[in-house]
Amino acid sequence: MWSEFRNLALICDQRCRRHARIRAWTIASGVVFLSTILIVVAKILCFDSVAAVSSSAPARSELFVGLAELPAADRHLLERARAVSRRAYAPYSGFGVGAAVRTRSGAVYAGANMENASYGLTLCAETSALLQTVAADDFAVEAIAIVGGRLDGAGGPGRPVTPCGRCRQLIVEAAQVANTDVRVIAANADLSRVTVRTIGELLPEAFGPRDLG
Ligand code: THU
Repeated sequence: MWSEFRNLALICDQRCRRHARIRAWTIASGVVFLSTILIVVAKILCFDSVAAVSSSAPARSELFVGLAELPAADRHLLERARAVSRRAYAPYSGFGVGAAVRTRSGAVYAGANMENASYGLTLCAETSALLQTVAADDFAVEAIAIVGGRLDGAGGPGRPVTPCGRCRQLIVEAAQVANTDVRVIAANADLSRVTVRTIGELLPEAFGPRDLG
């Protein structure tokens, strides 16, 4: 009688342990399954937001204006910059940039980028155009248009070419000398994307001739 009771207790104990193990396994696999789902969903959401930033919506600072909204003088400046961008000497990057500067006198000076086998010596289109205003003794710069893109047209018309950091500083020099917040009109290769900013927006709190007293 006593041994039967013990056997029964042993069987009960074994069953209880087995059930506890099964329950623990069920809970563990449930946790793993749910975490996997959460990770997959998070990845999809992250990927979507990265893709949205890099492809579809333009960045906030890149609000395009239609060509037709621009004054005729600015459209003319863009056309001059586009024409000269095709004459860029850019055998190393294959990226042609043209810049056209308008001064207070209404004159327009255009220039293209000029590369060098010693890569770091490259001169930007903006530098090239600004130099010509100095050479003409007409440094009262009002506006500059910059247009560019791959010379072989690969990858489509691309994004508007905004001046590099060095060129922004050169434009600040001209702006402070002329006492004007120079307008910077940037466009991609076929002028399908145009942005208009001032140099003060592109390089705020810049150091310039005014700081030298
Ligand atoms: N480039 C310019 O001419 N202006 C800019 O503001 C950005 C870059 C030229 C330099 C180089 O020859 C080529 O574009 C690729 O960087």
